[in-house]
Amino acid sequence: MKLKSRHLLGLRGMPPEDIRLILDTAGSFREVLDRPIKKVPPLQGKTIANMFFENSTRTRLSFELAERRLSADVLGFQSGGSSVSKGESLKDTARNIEAMKVDMVVMRHWASGAPHYLSGVIEAAVINAGDGAHEHPTQALLDLFTIQEKFKKVEGLHICLVGDILHSRVARSNIYGLKSLGAKVSVCGPATMIPRGLEQLGVDVYHHLDDVIPSVDVLNVLRIQLERDAGRFFPSLREYHQTYGVTLRRLSRAERPVTIMHPGPINRDVELSADVADGEHSVILRQVLNGVAVRMAVLYLLATGN
Ligand code: CP
Repeated sequence: MKLKSRHLLGLRGMPPEDIRLILDTAGSFREVLDRPIKKVPPLQGKTIANMFFENSTRTRLSFELAERRLSADVLGFQSGGSSVSKGESLKDTARNIEAMKVDMVVMRHWASGAPHYLSGVIEAAVINAGDGAHEHPTQALLDLFTIQEKFKKVEGLHICLVGDILHSRVARSNIYGLKSLGAKVSVCGPATMIPRGLEQLGVDVYHHLDDVIPSVDVLNVLRIQLERDAGRFFPSLREYHQTYGVTLRRLSRAERPVTIMHPGPINRDVELSADVADGEHSVILRQVLNGVAVRMAVLYLLATGN
């Protein structure tokens, strides 16, 4: 089976059967990660460039590991230290990298829409590794995989995204993916951090965490993006934590255990208390592990489908 698109730019409009194909394929690769020798040959001879124009720990290392696990040749590019500092455009940078016979480009960029632009100017398949405040499709796919692993389903579950929805590409991709697979999705945060019109995506909006906790299966807690000036949207981090911080005391009011997710990096004791982040219902490090398998699946399906 093949994906409908030759790029992975976002989950908006992605057919549910394509999402399921990625999750099913990731299930097979997840098993490879438990083997003593965690390497398989399907991308032998393929070359993949990882172009990162914004900082990353998890996504960059996870893609790199996924590529190496699939036996691809890997080219690393970070804008710092490159000729971007001499004024080279994104198009010229990418076309020069592609001229070295690159088959696929994974790109993180601070500008929303940059991967879409890139897919129109190069021949190689493009994978969006997070663009501005727009989408982060592989993060949402690994979140879906982790939810499915834990609950054996996604349909019918209630997942609430908590916090800085306004700046969050993770929230947008999660909403598209979760709705596509039939989950009930809500968001919770200060009114200043919820984009206007979000209800039109079929999402319930809450402003008080205690109102939503009793009915949720999963809280996907989002980082307050201080580097995007998110600190301007509430009086202080201490007050944010008092109102929206996910703590053991708050979770004790839930009737059943609530699974805790976070895409990372965490602002400990701001959006999430340290004991919850490291607690028994946290699947945060499981998300990181599953991310490698999900990225292997995306790389494999795009490379072999074209
Ligand atoms: N979740 C995520 O995108 O983390 P990084 O910014 O470290 O890649």
